[in-house]
Amino acid sequence: MAHARAWLASLPDRPVPPRCPIDELAIGRGAALPEEPSDPEAVIDLLAAGVEPGLMAMPSGRFFGWVIGGTLPAALAADWLTSAWDQNSGMRFATPGTVAVEEAAGAWLLDLLGLPPGADVGFVTGGTTANFTGLAAARQQVLTTAGWDLDRLGLTGAPHVRVLVGEERHGTVDLALRYLGLGAPTAVAADSAGRVRLDALAAALSEAPDGPTIVVLQAGNLHSGAFDPLQEAIALAHAHGAWVHVDGAFGLWAAASPRLRHLVRGHEEADSWATDAHKTLNVPYDCGVAVVARPGAVRDAMGMQASYLVHDEGPGDPLAKVPELSRRARGVPVWAALRSLGRSGVAELVDGLAANARALADGIGAIEDAEILNEVVFTQVCVAFGDDERTRAVTARVLADGTAWMSGSRWRDRAVLRISASNWSTDANDVAASVASVRRAAATR
Ligand SMILES: Cc1ncc(COP(=O)(O)O)c(C=O)c1O
Repeated sequence: MAHARAWLASLPDRPVPPRCPIDELAIGRGAALPEEPSDPEAVIDLLAAGVEPGLMAMPSGRFFGWVIGGTLPAALAADWLTSAWDQNSGMRFATPGTVAVEEAAGAWLLDLLGLPPGADVGFVTGGTTANFTGLAAARQQVLTTAGWDLDRLGLTGAPHVRVLVGEERHGTVDLALRYLGLGAPTAVAADSAGRVRLDALAAALSEAPDGPTIVVLQAGNLHSGAFDPLQEAIALAHAHGAWVHVDGAFGLWAAASPRLRHLVRGHEEADSWATDAHKTLNVPYDCGVAVVARPGAVRDAMGMQASYLVHDEGPGDPLAKVPELSRRARGVPVWAALRSLGRSGVAELVDGLAANARALADGIGAIEDAEILNEVVFTQVCVAFGDDERTRAVTARVLADGTAWMSGSRWRDRAVLRISASNWSTDANDVAASVASVRRAAATR
């Protein structure tokens, strides 16, 4: 506890990057396994001291890398409790306490995110497994509809499942399709913000006769934060009998904000959705959420029966909604986050992240030769400084400075400095200090 407190207390002032690269950490590979037992407290002292120089201050208000949230206090404490309780939360019968809390959190999520109240909610490890779960349900359903018995026959000889994705979908969609043996998807052209183009989607859908088809849409583009035109795209896909999965790893949370809800208009008509709680909701790593409108599809894909288990057919056991059998009660920190924020607090959290992105874009955009490349509609900002070489040099200087952490990337064929405003604790001072750090980096030639 003392070590955890010390870490949390260091966050407001500490530089963000780790002080020590992995190969120089004494605690890493090469350390000998002791032959004899050690005092547990001494082990934790050793662990805390050994890891500390290698910690990235990801929960800092000045961390804007990748798409990574911090940790709300109630969620962190609930996560500790979850470990102490040590409930293998796969079955309603066996661990009613944690499963009840996860079911409450699931119902609150459906309500906040504007999703069908009868949908199944599975708490998984992240956006990757949430995409995998939704797409597994999709594969199950489209092949069943095509008259193919997937469980008995597998994929060999099955009708071809056509998967259409936006050109700028997240790589984990492809990864999930690989897990599922569905191969590489067909990419549909995107516009300059990275949104799938409706004319291109319509053309792709019409190209082949309607058969088993899955369309994957995106709520929140990693670079621009842009949202696919969900309402129109879902209607098009459904007109061709396709299953629609929405990857809303961070962007689905726009639905919880009355001001930003318009970005996901029509999203509730899809068939499955993936989101993360460890991004926009700011619960500790790791926690993703897979939502499937048709419980039968996900339970057929993910559920298992065994004589030694005790099954609950009603609302369904957690193990029937996620890839794992044994599982941590990942929904408990989600419950604590939602219970502590309330409906208005969740909306304020989402609005606050978007406002921080806007403030960072305004501040950085005022720096000489900085060019904000995207319309900042949500939490993501992409900046270029003249040519690629200079953008990369500015990015390297920002990281070396250590005040703020923003990742470099490449978007629409340009090197960019990528900013993701995803941390609940980022305040005006963090924004000002981070803009000043980028200004210093850009001033050095
Ligand atoms: C749009 C999108 N989908 C999926 C993912 C993967 O999520 P995770 O890293 O939680 O597995 C990300 C991660 O940033 C993302 O931005």
